[in-house]
Amino acid sequence: MDRIARFESLRFGLFIHFGLYSQASQGEWAFHSNPAVHDTYDALFHSFNPVNLDWDQICTMAEKAGCRYIVLTTRHHDGFSLYDTKGLNDYDVMHTPYGKDIIKDYVSACRRHNLLPFFYHTTLDWQKPEFRTDFPAYQKYLRESIRLLCTNYGKIGGFWFDGNWSDYNADWEEDALYSLIRKYQPDAIITNNTGLEARGVRGNQYLDTVTFEQGHLQDDGTRNKGRHLAMEACETMNHHWGSAGQDLDYHPVSFFIEELNRCRRNNANYLLNIGPDGDGSVPLMAQAILHEMGIWTQLYQDTFYDGKLSQIRTDENTYVLDKGRYSDVYCSKVGLQGVEHVVEEDTAEDNLRILTNVSKKAKKIYWLDNQESLPFEQNGDTIRFHATGYPYGRYLVVRAARIEWE
Ligand code: GLC
Repeated sequence: MDRIARFESLRFGLFIHFGLYSQASQGEWAFHSNPAVHDTYDALFHSFNPVNLDWDQICTMAEKAGCRYIVLTTRHHDGFSLYDTKGLNDYDVMHTPYGKDIIKDYVSACRRHNLLPFFYHTTLDWQKPEFRTDFPAYQKYLRESIRLLCTNYGKIGGFWFDGNWSDYNADWEEDALYSLIRKYQPDAIITNNTGLEARGVRGNQYLDTVTFEQGHLQDDGTRNKGRHLAMEACETMNHHWGSAGQDLDYHPVSFFIEELNRCRRNNANYLLNIGPDGDGSVPLMAQAILHEMGIWTQLYQDTFYDGKLSQIRTDENTYVLDKGRYSDVYCSKVGLQGVEHVVEEDTAEDNLRILTNVSKKAKKIYWLDNQESLPFEQNGDTIRFHATGYPYGRYLVVRAARIEWE
């Protein structure tokens, strides 16, 4: 399997935004956008001591949620590094009260939990003077930083760059940066986020993916004019990537399950973000959402991860994953069945799903969550069945039916 196919087979990742800004808990852009936080940034550096940062706990959460990789902010736009920069810049974790290389602990926990570690790294820098005054010198500094990350932590999953969207006309010296990675980490995936305004756009020849920040996945095919690239959609749980204790506007779990499935049917990876608090602990809402995601991914793991997108054609609320002798039909919007006194709309009767371009003969169709068998009709290459709602007592959002083939 080549590295892009290997990356695609991971399906679901956990994004983690963590840094000095986590202590202020007003988003990762607070240095830039919030004068009160900006003015106390030195203090945040001198007080950084996330004693409750527990990578085994975070990795366990990720694993149980069904994630297969993690992308952690090794350095964000404020310029502060969670890794030991070995004298390259004193603005790193080693010079805070915490004093331990967070990236080292992160990578070793990922290995223990069979999760692939990826490194987010900013390409822009709000504090390093050279970013404004001597761009080539800054690029050299950036490459030296990446060289450290390539050589000090063993084999990693890849790099996730972010910041070129701040000025597409600047000379980011991308070839030099990426060929350095290829030299030390030939199997690493290289991503460079195209930001909110250029989703899905193909960039430098070395890049392995196209990105869709905050969902809005659209595949217009341009990404594959040339070498095949993977797609990845990253998303926040509320409106902030970094911790924001006063952002209460979380999406519901059903939204994330739908999004995960939207990515899957388009062969895109889904990267769901959490922002630990300043002490390193994961906010309860984020823990809860990951926990609930795990209920879904565990039930459907068999085809969800390894199934092959089927040739079978369906409608926009349905898609099919094949696995040899059987296929799973993933159905959105199935509704809930129950008596009128507790369930507003019983959807047991309608909800016809039509599968066309079917090349095999179905023997049996049944829901995977309760094994209930489903009546169906097959006429040549077309199968029809009713996607009955969840029976009162459970509602797992996207519901999968298994077709066993003759
Ligand atoms: C944006 C933001 C940044 C965040 C990133 C994640 O580029 O600038 O704060 O880390 O999105 O996708």
